Amino acid sequence: MAALTKALGLDTVIICVDTWLGSPEHYLGRGEGWRESLLLRHGYPHLYFTFLSNVIRHDHVDCIVPLPSTSENAAYILKEKGIKPDLVYIDAAHEEEPAYRDIKAYWELLSPDGVLIGDDYLSWEGVTRAAQRFAVEVQRPIVGTWGKFAISRGEVGEPSITFATRSGQAS
Ligand SMILES: C[S@@+](CC[C@H](N)C(=O)[O-])C[C@H]1O[C@@H](n2cnc3c(N)ncnc32)[C@H](O)[C@@H]1O
Repeated sequence: MAALTKALGLDTVIICVDTWLGSPEHYLGRGEGWRESLLLRHGYPHLYFTFLSNVIRHDHVDCIVPLPSTSENAAYILKEKGIKPDLVYIDAAHEEEPAYRDIKAYWELLSPDGVLIGDDYLSWEGVTRAAQRFAVEVQRPIVGTWGKFAISRGEVGEPSITFATRSGQAS
């Protein structure tokens, strides 16, 4: 994302919110190498240092600001600081309730024409349910494809709800 904003000539600051403590799927080793990626030392994860080294290696220290915090606390901090992002990209919890809480909290932070994008749409049931539930509640169109969804605060097209399905068709 940092490379893309630079290629487009945008003067962007990317605030990265993460506890860097990992998610249940890391601890439970749901994918190959996921548990090892936590880099547990004396039982404590060291994901943050993997993140930092990636930022430095790709030369994006100038535009990436880490905010090591829970998403809930970070939303409060950003609100108190009066930060209204134009784009929010959510890729944290995959379970329905925390994913829903993140979508709701960060939707409220967005600038009036901002866009909220979420990862893991359709590929994780909890995220899919949370995104669709939220779109229905706020009566905004949701644009979804395998692995991503987007909901815009500004007016875009017909105010209908479109759900992509696993086969890629809209329903
Ligand atoms: C699926 S990983 C994605 C990380 C990153 N977006 C990436 O692509 O490398 C999910 C991340 O969300 C973080 N996370 C999970 N729940 C969180 C919460 N409530 N607040 C902040 N971070 C959380 C975990 O520490 C983990 O690093």
